[in-house]
Amino acid sequence: MKAITKRSWAEPYKMKMVELLKMTTRQQRLKAIKDAGFNTFLLNSEDVYIDLLTDSGTNSMSDRQWSAFMTGDEAYAGSKSYFILEETIQKYYGYKYVVPTHQGRAAENILSQILIKKGDIVPGNMYFTTTRLHQELAGGTFVDVIIDEAHDPLNEHPFKGNVDIVKLEKLVKKHGAKKIPYVCVATNVNMAGGQPVSMANLKELRAFTKKHGIRIIHDMTRVAENAYFIQQREKGYEKKSIQQIVKEICSYTDGATMSAKKDALVNIGGFMAINDWDVFEEARNLVVVYEGLHTYGGLAGRDMEAIAVGIVESLDDNHQRARVGQVLYLGQKMLEYNIPIVKPIGGHGIFVDAKAFLPQLSQDQFPAQTLAAELYIDSGVRTMERGIVSAGRKPNGENYYPKLELVRFTIPRRVYTQAHMDVIAESAAAVYDKRKSIKGLKMVYEPKYLRFFQARFERLK
Ligand code: F0G
Repeated sequence: MKAITKRSWAEPYKMKMVELLKMTTRQQRLKAIKDAGFNTFLLNSEDVYIDLLTDSGTNSMSDRQWSAFMTGDEAYAGSKSYFILEETIQKYYGYKYVVPTHQGRAAENILSQILIKKGDIVPGNMYFTTTRLHQELAGGTFVDVIIDEAHDPLNEHPFKGNVDIVKLEKLVKKHGAKKIPYVCVATNVNMAGGQPVSMANLKELRAFTKKHGIRIIHDMTRVAENAYFIQQREKGYEKKSIQQIVKEICSYTDGATMSAKKDALVNIGGFMAINDWDVFEEARNLVVVYEGLHTYGGLAGRDMEAIAVGIVESLDDNHQRARVGQVLYLGQKMLEYNIPIVKPIGGHGIFVDAKAFLPQLSQDQFPAQTLAAELYIDSGVRTMERGIVSAGRKPNGENYYPKLELVRFTIPRRVYTQAHMDVIAESAAAVYDKRKSIKGLKMVYEPKYLRFFQARFERLK
């Protein structure tokens, strides 16, 4: 008899309803990806078997969230659902004032317009596509101040999301604190591979910014996943709950933008939160222009109810253990097949190193874009490019050449099973087996903004 060496996690929920998936043939998938210009964003989701494009808005809501939906107050002004959301954010995150928005980038737009002046410098722990664009549209220049380890897919630093305080200090010396409206700190850094920031780093950053009178704005889109890693890896936090850790993280920052479509387990929604009354006042003015009245900000009352319940569910220790546990399970399977992935395994997905997977391709031949297309053709698994296409162009028109050229296998929350994870890993392994025969792509259509969403490609001969 086999001895017990470990006790497994399992999902702290069961299924009450399922969504049937369409199975396709290789021939059908080949046609679909050609029609989509070899861009997985342009596939029809009906042609996708397992959809790992994003963990954004793709969550399964719980029975409690669906019940809360029915209690939404759809009043144009002063909706009770707004007050429930506000109270939940105040209680669990600790921010004082809340402006709901239809999703994260709307909060980024409003915040950037208020805080950034032309010529300002906005340091951040790696860029995110929409966040940086809103900073640039407001007249700012983004500067990456993440630690160097984050740009190395093989470096096993436990907190690759950390801010490099020395880099930040140099920026302050060069430009002066007045030119830096805030430091943007993302928890569980998406583009680095879902990598966490440590509490020690946040404390150090708080002390440094306080000294210079610079705000910290928190991109808290995946804060609970970050808290899980702190609980698992940082000394002194082993016995703290995710709920306690999240509140402490937020306490070192002055405000936040949130895409509730991730951590908060809903399909749409976001908010801006801030401790400063004057900024809040201005945000309440602006939200009316872009989103809707300040007590709904582009959301239905029912959406705000579902977010409030989702926030509480996201802070449950068992939920995060299963959530991140599923991602780890997939990553470990892929490592068994020797597939080059970003390490340590992150919180919301597996990031495959496309440069290492397809070393025969130059970055101008779009290795990550190519790999995402090949995976889809192999099995109908849809992933996303996070490399040179996503990085886009600088304001002067030159391409950014990011060090990381990745394919993201993003896992929606509470949606797929362990058996799906097996199928995904096996498909990645099948493509890896034939990697030497894979040729790259050329871009034949390039949109002006956020080109990765709509760019089209053709196969190189
Ligand atoms: N910040 C981070 C770290 C994000 O990952 C996202 C969205 C946003 C802000 C913007 O939020 O989509 O609600 O407007 N990330 C999605 C993704 C799109 O697939 O990674 P949004």
